[in-house]
Amino acid sequence: MLNNLIDFNDLSLSEWENLFSLGVDIYANPAKYSERCKGKILATLFYEPSTRTKFSFQAAIIKLGGNVIGFDGIASSSVSKGESLRDTVKIVANYADAIVIRNANEGAAFAASLYSEVPIINAGDGGHFHPTQTMTDLFTIGTIGNGENKKLTGLDIGICGDLLNGRTVHSLLRAFSLYGGNTFYFISTPSLQVPEIFVSDLRKNNAIIICGTIEECIGKLDVLYMTRIQRERFADKAEYEKQRGIYILDKEKLSKAKDDLIILHPLPKNEEISPEVDDDERAKYFKQAELGLYIRMALLIKIFENAGRKEKEAEKIAAGFINSVKRCANPKCITQTEKYLPNIVKPGFGEVSYCAYCEHKI
Ligand code: NCD
Repeated sequence: MLNNLIDFNDLSLSEWENLFSLGVDIYANPAKYSERCKGKILATLFYEPSTRTKFSFQAAIIKLGGNVIGFDGIASSSVSKGESLRDTVKIVANYADAIVIRNANEGAAFAASLYSEVPIINAGDGGHFHPTQTMTDLFTIGTIGNGENKKLTGLDIGICGDLLNGRTVHSLLRAFSLYGGNTFYFISTPSLQVPEIFVSDLRKNNAIIICGTIEECIGKLDVLYMTRIQRERFADKAEYEKQRGIYILDKEKLSKAKDDLIILHPLPKNEEISPEVDDDERAKYFKQAELGLYIRMALLIKIFENAGRKEKEAEKIAAGFINSVKRCANPKCITQTEKYLPNIVKPGFGEVSYCAYCEHKI
C-alpha cells in the first residue's frame, strides 16, 4: 500500500515491479491512460529550483486527465510571510489530492507527511533523498539498457561525483539493495564519499569498490551514473571550488569503455560531462529525463488507487517511531527550522539511533 513516497524503500520490490510494468505499458500506449486520473488535482510545492522533476510531474497529471496547482520558490507563496511547513501542507491538502514537495531541508517530505491528509511524494529533501529520480533511473536501466544490460542485477555500475550530497545517489543505492548481485564502483574524492547509512543495506548483497579515478574502472562498467558537485549544499564555497572539475567524462576516457555502456545523469549537468559526450550513442541522459514522465505517470496512478483521506496521520506515523529526548543536531535537518516538529528517531538500529527525518545519528 503506497500512502506516501518519502524513501524509495517505502515500496516493496513487488510493488516497484508492478509500477515498473505499468510504466512500460504507459510508455507504449499513453492514450489508454488519458482519463485515468480525471478530476484529480496534484499540488507541486517546489521550495527549491527544478526543471525535470516539476515539469514531468505536472505533465504526468495533465496527461492522465487531472490538473495541477502549486508554487515555484518561496517568494510566490505565504512561506515568504513566515508560514510553517505544517500549515502550508495542511492548507494545500484541502485543495489537492496529492502533494509533490521539494525542499532544501533534509527530512522535509517526511515532516510534511506527518501533517497531510493526502499522500506526500518526496521530490527531493535537501541532500537526503529523491526517490522519483531513482524510479526514473531504474526504469531507464531496465528498459533501454543495451542488450544484456537491460536488467537490474549482475551489473557493474560506476557512480561518480558528489556521493555525499547527491540525494539521487542516496535513493539509488537504497533501491539497489532490493536487487543485489551488482558491483558498485564509487568514484569520488575521500571527502565526497557516500555516508554509510545509505550503503549499509547495499553491502549485504552487492560488492562495493572505491575508485579514485574514472579511468580505473570505466572499462568494466555497464552503467556510469555521473552526478554534479552539489554547489548549493556546501557551507564553504572554497571547498566547492576545490571539488569541482575533478571528474570530467570526456571522449578520451570513453574510448576505454564498453560499446554497450549506458551513461546516465539525473541532470542538470555542469562541467562533469564534456559537451562532445552528448553525441555519443552511449549517452542516455536525455532519454532518461524523457522516461521520467512515464514512470511518474505510473506512480500517480498507484498513489491515487489508494488515496482515501488519512486521519491523524501525525499520530499514526509517529507511533512507528520512538520519541527521543534529544533534538537532531544536523544543521540541515528540517527540525532545525520547523521547531514544532516532534523529536523522533528510527527504531531498530541497536545502540545508535537515527533521526526519523534526516537519518543523521542522534
Ligand atoms: C537532481 C536533484 O534535484 O537532486 N535533479 C533532478 O531532479 N533531476 C540532481 C541535481 O540537482 O544535481
